[in-house]
Amino acid sequence: MKGIILAGGSGSRLYPITKIYSKQLTVIYDKPLIYYPLSILMLGGIREILIISNDETIPFYRQLFGNGSHLGLKIEYAVQPAPNGIAEAFIIGERFINGESVVLILGDNIFYGSLEFFYRGIRNNEGATIFGYQVNDPERYGIVEFDGDGKAISIEEKPKIPKSNYAVPGIYIYNNDVVGISKSLNPSARGELEITDVNKEYLAKGKLKVEKIGRGIAWLDTGTPEALLQASNFFGVIEERQGLKVACIEEIAFYMNYISKTEFEIVINSIPNSLYRNYLEKVLRES
Ligand code: G1P
Repeated sequence: MKGIILAGGSGSRLYPITKIYSKQLTVIYDKPLIYYPLSILMLGGIREILIISNDETIPFYRQLFGNGSHLGLKIEYAVQPAPNGIAEAFIIGERFINGESVVLILGDNIFYGSLEFFYRGIRNNEGATIFGYQVNDPERYGIVEFDGDGKAISIEEKPKIPKSNYAVPGIYIYNNDVVGISKSLNPSARGELEITDVNKEYLAKGKLKVEKIGRGIAWLDTGTPEALLQASNFFGVIEERQGLKVACIEEIAFYMNYISKTEFEIVINSIPNSLYRNYLEKVLRES
C-alpha cells in the first residue's frame, strides 16, 4: 500500500500566509500542518510516501523530510504544476503507485482520536473505501447520501442543497483502478479533476464502501485563519494536558519500529536544543 499526500492548492483564502509557500507548511500549534497527515499515514503502516505540491514549495518539504530514511520511510516528491484537482494526484503518481493500492490524504486534513476506522479501511479495502463525517456546513464538502440500511447511494461535490450532513474527509483508500479512472475524467465546472467523480465511478460499479466516522474523532479543517487558530488551540490544549505530542513523526517512527533505538538517538542528536528535542529525549529515556 502506497501513500500520497497532496499538499498543493493555491491556499488563496489564507493570503498572505500563503504568498510564499503552500498552506500545509503553516504552523498548527508547534509543528507544520503537514506533520499531521504524514503521521496518520505512518500510523497506518504506510512507509512509501509521495508528497505532491507546487514547484516552489517542494524544496521546503525536502528540507523537512529529505528522503525519509531517518524516519524509516521512503519519501518521494512530485510537482503538480497547477491546482488541477485532487484526482490528478493519481495521474502524477502513477509510476510511484506502480500497480499497488494507495491511500491519498490531503495535506491540510487533520484527524485526531482512535484511527481504528482508518486501520480497518486499509485492512479490508477491495475497491474504494472512503469515510463520512457529520459536519455543520455540508455545502463546503463532498457529501454522501445513505439509504435506510446505511448504504451509500449518492455523492455530490459541494451541493447547494445537501442530501445529508455527512461530508467526505480528505482521506481515501483505493485499489489500483484509481489510476485509470482518474485518467478517464473530464474537468469539472471549476476546472478540476474531482475526487468526487472518482468516488462516483466506484459507486456506479458497486465498489465503493463509505464508512461513517463517529463523533469521537476530530476531523479539523484548516481553510481559514479562524480554523487555523482553532486547530492550534485544540492541539495546544491536548499536548499541554497530557505532556504528550500529537503528530510527532520521530516518536511515531520509533513507536512503530520503523527505526531502532540507536537510529532514534541519531535523529535526536540532529535536532537543535528545543522543547521538541527535550520531548524526544524524554520518550527515549522512558522507552
Ligand atoms: C475537497 C474535496 C471534497 C472533500 C474535501 C475534504 O474539497 O473536493 O469532496 O470533502 O476536500 O477536505 P476542496 O478542498 O477542493 O474544497
